[in-house]
Amino acid sequence: MTSKTWWKNAVGYQVYPRSFKDSNGDGIGDIRGIIEKLPYLKDLGIDFIWINPIYKSPNVDNGYDISDYESIEPEFGDLNEFKELLQKAHKIGIKVILDLVVNHTSDQHPWFIESKKGKNNPYRDYYLWADASPDKMPNDWKSFSGHSAWTYDKKSGQAYFHVFAAEQPDLNWKNPKVRKAIYKMIRWWLDLEIDGFRMDAISHIQKEPWDFKIKDNPWAPFMNVKGIDKYMSELRDIFNEYSVMTVGEASGVTSRKAINWTDPKRDGYINMIFELEQNVQEGQLGEQRIDPLGFKKVLARWQRDLADGGWNALYVENHDNPRINTVLGNETAQSAKAIAATYMLLCGTPFVYQGQELGMTNYPFTKPEQMDGLNTKKRFEEIIKQGHDPKEAMKIMSHWSRDNARTPMQWSSEINAGFSKGDPWLAINDNYKKINVEKELQDSHSILNFYKKLIALRKNESAFTDGDFELILDNDPNVFAYLRKNSEQEYLVISNLSDGKRTVTLPRKVVQNVWRTKLTNDNTLKISKNMTLQPYAVTVMEKIN
Ligand code: GLC
Ligand code: CA
Repeated sequence: MTSKTWWKNAVGYQVYPRSFKDSNGDGIGDIRGIIEKLPYLKDLGIDFIWINPIYKSPNVDNGYDISDYESIEPEFGDLNEFKELLQKAHKIGIKVILDLVVNHTSDQHPWFIESKKGKNNPYRDYYLWADASPDKMPNDWKSFSGHSAWTYDKKSGQAYFHVFAAEQPDLNWKNPKVRKAIYKMIRWWLDLEIDGFRMDAISHIQKEPWDFKIKDNPWAPFMNVKGIDKYMSELRDIFNEYSVMTVGEASGVTSRKAINWTDPKRDGYINMIFELEQNVQEGQLGEQRIDPLGFKKVLARWQRDLADGGWNALYVENHDNPRINTVLGNETAQSAKAIAATYMLLCGTPFVYQGQELGMTNYPFTKPEQMDGLNTKKRFEEIIKQGHDPKEAMKIMSHWSRDNARTPMQWSSEINAGFSKGDPWLAINDNYKKINVEKELQDSHSILNFYKKLIALRKNESAFTDGDFELILDNDPNVFAYLRKNSEQEYLVISNLSDGKRTVTLPRKVVQNVWRTKLTNDNTLKISKNMTLQPYAVTVMEKIN
């Protein structure tokens, strides 16, 4: 592993700063809080952290609407504190990557404030404007909110384009001045010696011509559209000057195309991609689950399609999704452990989202006021109008909500779970007395201690970094099983991702070998031709001889 590819043998940890640790009692997590918890992260065994946006922001979308790229949001601290964090993290061997949000800015960014002033303003073309009238937008494209992707501006008789909220106008990447300014900003951060970027919504920076006709996918006009290669190549050339890692949130880049995005031999743009396909849902609205077979098939396909030189980013949680131990697990330690070993030993760089290592669960929201999402009240009323009672409406609205992942980190059984001495910005889950860092550190069988062992295993055994991946029991609806093998080692991972007992028939190539248990949540598990797995049992085995 050269120093340029350090991330191939690394485990990442995602910090959602607002909910990680509040150091000054205002109820909002901050940079000083992250500094405080560096020893915890070191002890967990991770190699780098990805911090969600900490730039100046009006917080319409919690930091994903940036009004100044080169300053820190005061709620989180200031630039000196960030430099201190960087220096202290580096000192103990933890690298730091930041979110790079360049598809759009805030509508409060000085560029947009200028741009909005009129057609002749020098910043007009920093954004995407087109002629419109109050009842006729330039085209019928929808934003991710499901409403028009355009917002009308009476003064100029034009509308501006946004794939997210109206307060997040899209930048015009065709404009060389925009690209120049963005690249300068990127270098400014890289020169501070940060270790890379998670690139937000990066596959949307190129758009189809406004007269493009949508056939089936409403978001096709801005998902990995032709011409994006020019911008991505320019970005790659900057990243290549520095030894940094890059991971792109790149919806619309299929597993087939992803190899061209991530393989250096193919002039790939970035190191790895967060694919968004793996969350295959089943079940009714308000009680959806992740379908284990769908989950397995998507992940296995990405493993295969990237095998020849690409690279995966592995995750099961982030700040946009519900808690995995609720929607794939059954909120037990057994299921949290089974899920962890299943995804973390695949080929790629694993990310752990804060609290995932404790088995944190979804929050039982009962009132729209408890939620932070955009327009929750309005949505609640809409669902009621459709004929649901308030309880059902809350379930429908909250079950898959990203707020589940955003409730504060549970550090201890003290007040506010040890997150803050003040009033937390989002409610703390009632189960914090059972599920928290302090408690789990003391219990050798805890989820947290399982994660520690798993992270160490993942990093110490080379087959998990560079070994081949081979799926077995391909079509079993509940059991996820695979082999990882390089010239020196062979490992078998087998897990039951359901809450029922399952019996599988293992192939000869597995049964004929002798295996030794390396990590498990069920010590009675043994390899045999017909093997029965208890609910959410998992075992990681090493081949001996
Ligand atoms: C990404 C982020 C999400 C944000 C959006 C707009 O999908 O993960 O949290 O709302 O981009 O920037
Ligand atoms: Ca604070």
